[in-house]
Amino acid sequence: MSVRTDQYGNVLSTDSAKAAEAYSTGLYRLLAAQADVVAPFEEAIAHDPQFALAHVGLARALQTVNDAEATREAMATAKTLSDPCKMREQSHIHALDLLVSGKTADAYTAIRAHVSEYPRDAMVAQTCSSIFGLIGFSGQPGREAEMLAFNAALLPHYGKDDWWCQSQYAFALCETGNLKEADAYIDRSLALNPDNANGAHIRSHIWYEAGETKTGADYLTEWLKGYDRSAVMHGHLSWHVALWSLEQGDTAQMWQTVDADVAPGAALGLPINVLTDTASILFRAEIAGETVAPERWQQVSAYASRFYPKTSNAFIDMHAALAHAMAGKSEPLQVIIDHPVGPAADLVPDVALACRHIAAQDWAKAAHHLTHCMADHARIGGSRAQRDLLEHALLTCLLRQDRATEARQILALRRPVLAESVAWRNLTSAAV
Ligand SMILES: [Fe+2]
Repeated sequence: MSVRTDQYGNVLSTDSAKAAEAYSTGLYRLLAAQADVVAPFEEAIAHDPQFALAHVGLARALQTVNDAEATREAMATAKTLSDPCKMREQSHIHALDLLVSGKTADAYTAIRAHVSEYPRDAMVAQTCSSIFGLIGFSGQPGREAEMLAFNAALLPHYGKDDWWCQSQYAFALCETGNLKEADAYIDRSLALNPDNANGAHIRSHIWYEAGETKTGADYLTEWLKGYDRSAVMHGHLSWHVALWSLEQGDTAQMWQTVDADVAPGAALGLPINVLTDTASILFRAEIAGETVAPERWQQVSAYASRFYPKTSNAFIDMHAALAHAMAGKSEPLQVIIDHPVGPAADLVPDVALACRHIAAQDWAKAAHHLTHCMADHARIGGSRAQRDLLEHALLTCLLRQDRATEARQILALRRPVLAESVAWRNLTSAAV
């Protein structure tokens, strides 16, 4: 009997060639953020119901479509089938079970140990490789450098022909400021697989960091034409397009994109993206001088209350706080101020209080609270582009207090790429 493997050479405990093939298709769709990611794992299970890793894959796929109950069920089934599995598979099941169960600290320890032993187990390595992963949301100081080190250590095991690993390394390079090298890696990755939505996303971030607005907007707008609306990255990629439309002064296009593909009720992606992307674009539009209808803030605040009635992590809570503050919803805002959770919980009350003061146009108090968070806001989570929300907020607070010189200096020191942003062009062109 021949040995079945996934596309990375990991041995799979199944006698069914069709089950192994379907599993590899599912893994590909997960890594490339493609649509219809659940079906291949269901197909693998249909071919071999005893195939434990297919149930784990199904659990991970179900997470991407936000089906928590089915995720737990799939993982529970995987555990009942783990006994006859090889050691690599048992370790795989154990590590991802901890992740799916929300035991993130234990999951991180288990996953790092697993990846050290089995670096080409991409299904497991993927949980630490990107911004929305265990390192990205670790809340730890230096987590951007840690993500770079993690991905750099994977590279020799995947080689120059692997589009996935190279794209992940490119993102880590981008977020630590090495744009030239990031450029080379993402170009090579996209040449190998132009359909990788994570690759298109990372390509967009590198152009954002380089201030290449038109190039980025043209590329991503075109790329999105071939991407399924139901796929996990569609809403967030549309946020990038909306942001670039705002930058180019095309607010009609920006609102059209928001209403069609970003906002609650339109986007089909995960709640974390729908909430954070919508709150972010509304705020960034407002500080760029655009009128934002109060109903829009009401809508995103209600969405936050529905999907995150309790505090969850600093990144989500920061955006929920902004939405509640701008919508005038003091009760859910107070919950975030009083009950921050997670490893970056210490930063949340100041951010949330800043949101409250921004909404009340008390710019001095808002700036005071924001200043407490600026030294290491990477701990909050999210990409640099997403955390520019805080940079824009502080600059706004300073300008509204007629502190233009200070704002100009902070902009030049912290985020010079934003100097050409539509919100600050006049600031930087004015004489000091
Ligand atoms: Fe992004």
